[in-house]
Amino acid sequence: MDHTIAIAGAGYVGLVTGACLASARRRVIMVEVDPERRQTLVEGRVPIYEPGLEPLLRAALDAGHLRVTDDWEDALAQASMVVVAVGTPPRADGRADLTAVEQVIATVRAGARPGTVLVMKSTVPPGTSARLQQQLRGEPFAIPIVSCPEFLREGAAIEDVRNATRVVVGGLDRDACERVAEVMGVPGAEIVRTDNTSAELIKYGSNSFLALKISFINEIANVCDLMGGDVDAVAHGMGLDPRIGRAFLNAGLGFGGSCFPKDVRALDQAAGRYGYSFWMLKTAIEVNDQQRMRFVSKIRAAVEGPIEGKRIAILGLAFKPGTDDMRQACSVDVAMRLMELGAEVVAHDPVAMEKAAPMLPGVELAESAYEAVAGADCVALVTEWPEYLHMNWNRVRHLVKRPLVVDGRNCLDRDEMSACGFTYHGMGRQPGVVLWGRRATDRVRLESEGVA
Ligand code: UDX
Repeated sequence: MDHTIAIAGAGYVGLVTGACLASARRRVIMVEVDPERRQTLVEGRVPIYEPGLEPLLRAALDAGHLRVTDDWEDALAQASMVVVAVGTPPRADGRADLTAVEQVIATVRAGARPGTVLVMKSTVPPGTSARLQQQLRGEPFAIPIVSCPEFLREGAAIEDVRNATRVVVGGLDRDACERVAEVMGVPGAEIVRTDNTSAELIKYGSNSFLALKISFINEIANVCDLMGGDVDAVAHGMGLDPRIGRAFLNAGLGFGGSCFPKDVRALDQAAGRYGYSFWMLKTAIEVNDQQRMRFVSKIRAAVEGPIEGKRIAILGLAFKPGTDDMRQACSVDVAMRLMELGAEVVAHDPVAMEKAAPMLPGVELAESAYEAVAGADCVALVTEWPEYLHMNWNRVRHLVKRPLVVDGRNCLDRDEMSACGFTYHGMGRQPGVVLWGRRATDRVRLESEGVA
């Protein structure tokens, strides 16, 4: 069956979903209410940094498979499916703010034609779709809600949509679920058919579990620092057990971004409303927060003596490489704490400088990584951008005031750094402990290929 698909919200998830569906020759109408964002998209430009997305959007616009509008009436007159992809930002208490989702539901309820299916792609707390479904029952006709959560990673979003391992469709209406499975399914992906709440829990459960894994390995790194073990070796050895797996066992500064911190808190909050205290989630967050301060403590210890007036160069501001997203980025907490302690902070990021600038008052922003490290008492690596791994560290050695590196992502080759004359500190990495036959740079390469 050929569907016209309206997508509510041209944010991260909406844009990637829309562009991928259009490239699979579906007719897509993106409904974006923000005039500036809409205009940018109409001109074929993408307001976020996501490799491969702009050409995909342009091709879809040129082929006439996708258009961008603010005209809900027209979109609802044409669409047989409405994908909800608006934001659900965290409120101050950690609960997800559902205002935008509820607005879309009200619009669809008022204007949809019979047979329209609502697809919930926004990340909503478990139980939300079932509750909203109650409101959409009956009068004048029922609009089925099918929960179809998104698992894409920023920086690898298109690849993640196209090579998905699973497509979750949760809802009460079987026919609607099958229609969504047909549109959202990709070759090789298992279709998981379930109810709305289970679908929502799959999303929160997945993100929370990955966040737990990160906090767990960070705690292992912390005890490695105390006991003298090497976290790279431990993660490698643990990860060879297929029940554990090596992915998401990279110790360091911990997780940031728009999903993990928000979703872990939201699941804990949701459980709390049922009187259940989800202790593991609270701990994962706590460990993650502390990790940033541990990194600052490492810098303090490494510079030896007072940190006041010391020049610290932060390499990497985005919450991870491959994106300009600064949401919950470690760099902000690290930079602000260093400034509080009286250090002079200079920072660089290959793409996130513009977004970072207003979040880092008092931090000097350097034009290049080499400019950032010039005259530094300590280089603090916060985001593992490939350009930092492949810097000419011999050149850096001659630019810095003191050859000291604190690697918050355990991504630099300790031996190479020593060979260049640097004193190197990682997170839970011990000097002299070698992961025979595997170098840190290999790990980064294997990971970017999706192997590690
Ligand atoms: C995540 C999920 O991976 C994705 O499935 C979901 O849809 C959205 O949330 P994303 O936030 O884009 O995606 O980033 P991801 O690559 O998962 O990394 C999240 C954070 O964890 C980053 O800050 C990263 O640096 C950190 N991380 C990741 C670690 O500290 N160690 C690891 O081993 C892996």
